[in-house]
Amino acid sequence: MKTILSGIQPTGNLHFGRYFGAVENWLRLQETYTCYYCVVDYHAMTMPYNPVKLRENSWDLVFNLLAVGIKPETLFIQSMVPEHTELNWILNCFASYGQVTRMTQFKDKSQQVETNGDESFISVGLFTYPVLQAADILVYQADYVPVGKDQEQHLELARNIAERFNHIIGKDYFVIPQPLFTETPKIMSTADPDRKMSASLGEKHNISLFADADRIRKQVRSAVTDTGQPAAEMSAGVANLFLLLKACRAFEAHDSLMDDYRTGALKYVDLKEAVADGLISISAPCVARKAELMANKKAVKEMIRESAANIRKHAHKTLLEVKELTGLQNV
Ligand code: TRP
Repeated sequence: MKTILSGIQPTGNLHFGRYFGAVENWLRLQETYTCYYCVVDYHAMTMPYNPVKLRENSWDLVFNLLAVGIKPETLFIQSMVPEHTELNWILNCFASYGQVTRMTQFKDKSQQVETNGDESFISVGLFTYPVLQAADILVYQADYVPVGKDQEQHLELARNIAERFNHIIGKDYFVIPQPLFTETPKIMSTADPDRKMSASLGEKHNISLFADADRIRKQVRSAVTDTGQPAAEMSAGVANLFLLLKACRAFEAHDSLMDDYRTGALKYVDLKEAVADGLISISAPCVARKAELMANKKAVKEMIRESAANIRKHAHKTLLEVKELTGLQNV
């Protein structure tokens, strides 16, 4: 079976943008591949952060992912497998400085830090972030990495590092990871449909998968619809609501409401109720499963620690081989 690795940052909540954009795809992939799904807490340290919150958020995301249906044996928290950071150092020495300086995510994030002012500073960790990401992937000899557009450049770097390593060491050691492009819907904020649904924009800009039904309905009801675009064009807000219906697989409601739209008979309230129903039908079982998991918090944490210990064996094997190949002490 081919191997997949993916990582997710323990920042913000698990909202429908992330669910339809990434996590739902993880659920499908775990049926056909050996998957390693990593909550990347080392990566979350690269921006100004709070230690207590980091640990809380990491576990919260683990519980959320389990509640959604991610298999426990695929799931772990990055810092439970220190081989990631040890390999990171070694890969730093095979990564091109010039190439790392061209990473656009670093430029965007360092600008964010600068505009946020005073106490913050741009860390070396933020700079070397994509090399740690390469280590995440290469330490499992992953064949594929599911990527969106925003992570394409990072994956290209990982491929280049692996190729350079193989070339310098004179052996086809690392598997060169390939991107796995999947069409996933890009969900926009219902409060501002010109921007992507995101946790960092603030509460009203994302709908949590774990919100209660009333809140979901309220947020959908307040969705922006018309913003004075030409009458012949569908507004971004309405298009986003139709996209959500499709994402929820409410195809019948989608098609009949789309017919109404075409004949000019669409009432936005009907569209919004249908979207709210769709989102709640996905959210409700997840909320229930999360409550069960939370009732067994200790056992669930133990299960993930065990899963991490198993996963670590694979990472450890790679690391010993790499240390052997690079002239380090492999004990
Ligand atoms: N950088 C990714 C993001 O922001 C998260 C990530 C960390 C990741 N390590 C990874 C994604 C390895 C894929 C593979 O979304």
